[in-house]
Amino acid sequence: MKNNEWLQSAEGLFQIQPNTTSILANASAFLNDILEDINWVGFYLYDGIKLTVGPFQGHVACSTIAIGKGVCGEAAKLRVTRVVADVLNYDNHIACDANSRSEVVVPIIVNNQLFGVLDIDSPIINRFDSETVSFLEQFVKLLVKTIDI
Ligand code: SME
Repeated sequence: MKNNEWLQSAEGLFQIQPNTTSILANASAFLNDILEDINWVGFYLYDGIKLTVGPFQGHVACSTIAIGKGVCGEAAKLRVTRVVADVLNYDNHIACDANSRSEVVVPIIVNNQLFGVLDIDSPIINRFDSETVSFLEQFVKLLVKTIDI
C-alpha cells in the first residue's frame, strides 16, 4: 500500500475507536504493522508537568520524560518534529533501548495545547527520510482530528 492508502486506513481505524486510549493503542499497533525497521513506536502524553509513557509497541521504556529533555522533551517543548539521524551522536537523547540508532518525534497539539508526542525508534541509522516524516505528520494530523471531537 502507498502512504495515502495507509492514511485512509488509519482515518477509518481512528473513527471506530471508543475512546482516546483505544485510538492511541491501535495507532501504535497500526504503525508497528506498516513501518519497516523500527524497534519502538508509541506515545508520550503530557500530564501538565511532564511526559508520561502511553500506549506503545516495543520493549519497556522510560516512564517519564521532562519537557526539554531527550528528543521527546525537545519536540514537546519546541512543538516541532525532531528527526535524529544517529542517536549516538546526539547529546540530548535518552537511551531507552540500546538497539535504537535513529529516531523521529512528532508533537501532538490539540486545540493549541500540548497533548503529547509520537515517538518512533529504529535500529538503523538515518531511517526516517523526509517522505516518512511527512507521512507521520499527516498521520498525527488525522489523530488530532479524531481526538479533538
Ligand atoms: N529516546 C527518547 C526516549 C524515549 S524512548 O526512545 C522510547 C528521547 O530521547 O526522548
